[in-house]
Amino acid sequence: METRITIVTELAGAEVSGLTFGHFVEHLGRCIYGGIWLGRGSEGADEEGYNLRVKELLKDLGLEVLRWPGGCFGDQYHWEEGIGKDRRVRRNIWWGGYELHEFGTDEFLRYCEEVGAEPYVSLNLGTGTVQEALDWMEYVLGERPLSYAERRAENGREEPYKVRYWGLGNETWGCGGNMRPEHYADLVRQYSNFIKAAFPDVKLVAVGHTTDWNRRLVASFWERPARIDALSVHQYTRAKEDWDEEDYRRCFGSRAWKERQISEAWGLITALSGKVKLVVDEWGVWYDTARRENGLIQKGHLKDALSAASDLHLYMRHADKIEMANIAQTVNVLHSVVLAEGSEVKPTPTYFVFKMIKGHKGGRLLPVVLEGERKWPVEDPSGGEYLYPLPDAVATVKGNEVSASLLNPSEEDVKVELSLSGGDIGSAEAVALVGSDLQAEDVEPVPAEVSLEGGRARLKLGPASLTMVRIERR
Ligand code: AHR
Repeated sequence: METRITIVTELAGAEVSGLTFGHFVEHLGRCIYGGIWLGRGSEGADEEGYNLRVKELLKDLGLEVLRWPGGCFGDQYHWEEGIGKDRRVRRNIWWGGYELHEFGTDEFLRYCEEVGAEPYVSLNLGTGTVQEALDWMEYVLGERPLSYAERRAENGREEPYKVRYWGLGNETWGCGGNMRPEHYADLVRQYSNFIKAAFPDVKLVAVGHTTDWNRRLVASFWERPARIDALSVHQYTRAKEDWDEEDYRRCFGSRAWKERQISEAWGLITALSGKVKLVVDEWGVWYDTARRENGLIQKGHLKDALSAASDLHLYMRHADKIEMANIAQTVNVLHSVVLAEGSEVKPTPTYFVFKMIKGHKGGRLLPVVLEGERKWPVEDPSGGEYLYPLPDAVATVKGNEVSASLLNPSEEDVKVELSLSGGDIGSAEAVALVGSDLQAEDVEPVPAEVSLEGGRARLKLGPASLTMVRIERR
């Protein structure tokens, strides 16, 4: 049986922003120390102290966004302890061990410039103050003669940095302060009031959570507005690291609750100015083996890479609502794209998912119509069954080029016939990430066969595969 896929080229929708393919780094385990940062003079480090091989891989991937310094750590972070010559040693309350503050604001922002990522800084609302946040922003964005701009210049950076996105705390309903939404709403009003007066061009992201939290927060903002630009949600997929078929299917069934959370949050925030968007601050597969004691480290497999593709498809489809999405985390922690241990540095299968799927960046979404598709029954971990379409397809257009990513997480081949509603396919080429073992840790994209006939393209999507097809319209 063949699935017929028609890409509706006449109806170009929202643009897929590069920020959909963002990342996150936290002072946790070996994400920063031993991950992206080794320290000056260390083996494998460049002249500034960054892990050279990791930096090269991330640069090559083209990091779009990097969120920092947390996560939970962000609400215990006092930025002045991490600049200049005197760096303070503190306990890392959430993740254990000591924070030496070797990697601070300048190290982070220079890193973003080197790898070409847009920085996104999470402010400390848990243990910080409004003044501390304003001073940090002055250090980053201010110009001389402001005192903190002078401090920045003394620390070797004359020019202000460019940072548009600032988060108002992290998980303030949990590690960020165990707050009630009403209390947090007051803090958001207070912080955003001063920040927007001092730095009107920045974008502020408030912490979202469950529908109940979001409803109470938005109700409070509706009554008395806060100057925010986005509301965040976190979407982790809890999974077993060992192979378990039902568990694997649940990763794809989680599409149901994730989509519901996005729609409900969106429904609520549209009651505000009409300009507030959603940000998926943290997302990804969180294996049962990743715990605080081991610095939340986990291996990368083909199965979690396909789950990442499924989530990225979801976020792209909601490009009109979602301004940014950041997988957690970049190196050595949770669903990373790079694993680094000493001189051994390697990309995970998820690295290649990003590489492939980023072909959609800057494209406008096109509707995709499936006919005769098989539906894969998967369980939604929040309850109920979800019928996952085979393949799960996203298509975008840029000029004359149409890109289609086709995800087949099932254990059987899926044959597809692709056509464009508005004309013939002139040429098509494809690459696929595919493997016979879903637990495989070393898979890389390979060219995939496409045959053309009568302006249509035919492909066979292997079991457990992601295929990216590039089409030129005739
Ligand atoms: O990414 C790990 C942790 O998960 C973050 O610190 C926190 O925000 C979330 O609970």
